This record gives sequence, C-alpha cells and structure tokens, in this order.
Amino acid sequence: MIRSPLMTVMTDAVMKAARSLKRDFGEVENLQVSRKGPGDFVSAADRKAEQILREALEKSRPGYGFIMEEQGVIEGADKSHCWHIDPLDGTTNFLHGLPHFAISVGLEREGQIVAGVIYDPIKDELFIAEKGKGAFVNNRRLRVSARRDLVDALIICGLPHINRGDHRQFFRELAAIMPLCGGMRRSGSAALDMAYVACGRADGFWERNLHSWDMAAGLILLREAGGYVSNAEGGADIFGAKSVVCGNEYIYRELLKLLKA
Ligand code: IPD
Ligand code: CA
Ligand code: CA
Ligand code: CA
Repeated sequence: MIRSPLMTVMTDAVMKAARSLKRDFGEVENLQVSRKGPGDFVSAADRKAEQILREALEKSRPGYGFIMEEQGVIEGADKSHCWHIDPLDGTTNFLHGLPHFAISVGLEREGQIVAGVIYDPIKDELFIAEKGKGAFVNNRRLRVSARRDLVDALIICGLPHINRGDHRQFFRELAAIMPLCGGMRRSGSAALDMAYVACGRADGFWERNLHSWDMAAGLILLREAGGYVSNAEGGADIFGAKSVVCGNEYIYRELLKLLKA
C-alpha cells in the first residue's frame, strides 16, 4: 500500500510520539502524575507525547491549527486546517499498567474530518483512514461487521466520569441496551473503541461526554470502513453534542432507537 504524503506526515509524527509513550509505559511507576479533576489524570507521558506530535506536525504542515487535549487550542495562520490530537487516549489504563491505550490524530479541513490515525503501541496496530481512500489496519483494508441482530452483537460503551456526565442517564441507556445484546465491553480508550467498530471486532459503540480529540480520527475510520455514525441524538454535530453512537448500519440503527426511546 502506498501512503499519501499527508498519511506519511501523520504516521511519522504518531510513531515518534509512540516511542516516547512506550518508554514511559515501561517506567510508569516513576511518572509524574497530576489530577485535572476527580478521576481525570494527566502524566508527563501525555504531555511529552503531545509536544512531540505538535512539533512534528508543525514542522511538516506549518500554519495548521491545533485542538489538543493537554495544551488546548492553538490558532493557526491557515484557518482551513486543524489537527485534533489526543496524545494518550486511555490515560487511566496507562497509569495502572493496563496495556490498552492509543494515540489519536485527526485532521479537519474546511470543517470536515478528512484524515485520521490511531496507533496502539503495545499491540503495534496502526489504524489509518483518509477521505475517499478507505480505512486500513497495518495495511489491511477495514470493514465494519455484517451482524444484523443485536442479540448476536458485541457492544462497547463508555462510562461517565466522577463529576462529569449524567450517571442516571447512562444507567437508563445501559438498562435498555444490555439485556438485548450479545455482550458488552468497556475498554477505557474511546479512540480504540471506534477503531474496533471500524474493523468489525465490535458491532457498535456509544459514549457521551467525549471531546473532538477522542473522536476525530475514529470518525473518518468508521466512515471509510462503511460504518454509520452520529451523535447520541442521531444528529450530525458530533463534536458539538460531545456524544457518539456508531456501528454497522443495522446495529447503529438499533442502538440509536434504544438511546432515543
Ligand atoms: C478517555 C478515554 C475513555 C473515555 C473517557 C475519555 P483520556 O480519554 O477515551 O475511554 O471513557 O471519556 O476521557 O482522558 O484517557 O484521553
Ligand atoms: Ca484525559
Ligand atoms: Ca481521550
Ligand atoms: Ca488523553
């Protein structure tokens, strides 16, 4: 598979940041950790990886803006391009030595996400997608699952954090969905959750209280893999609503129906 110049820029930046994350994961007990809010941690590993991504992307694509989880918004001279960056999606897993986390980088052009990279450095899985060019994991083409019935489906959910999100609403949604589906998971990395739906390892996923950096790369992966995706109300404004529901066509429709009931 021949990578486009844009994909090369994105994957080079991500692989460089991944080397730093992997080193830090090996010494996780010595990392400096602070709490941004209850249950919301950030470590030196997140910050270092984000800085590496920022420097690499700025060098290759000067002027593009940034929306980053740790450094926030940086306006660029080029108003039509913006990177959405989560340097470490799954910080809680990472800090507990649980090897399930990823780097997620999405590119917005003229208000549309046009490219995304999600990399799991532990499993060495590189998920990439570009608008109109398909989605791939380690050069293998991705396709969402073909399961039609919720009773056979594996569904991933996200949980609201302490002081963030409506726990009662979450339990209402869980009570509506869980008894009807084949299995449920919660992984701790929204980016990988979306990538797993894109490659058919799971049939659907929903979560509220997410940010653009959690979802941007996952969105383009899903769309390019033939998935259906919207906010939890069925609308197109996913970043504004801060929620996502996705799946193959059939499971997406079932999930949305239950979420809206
Ligand atoms: C978190 C993960 C998690 C999701 C949280 C996110 P972080 O991102 O994606 O799966 O449930 O809502 O904040 O903080 O580890 O980058
Ligand atoms: Ca975080
Ligand atoms: Ca995240
Ligand atoms: Ca993060």
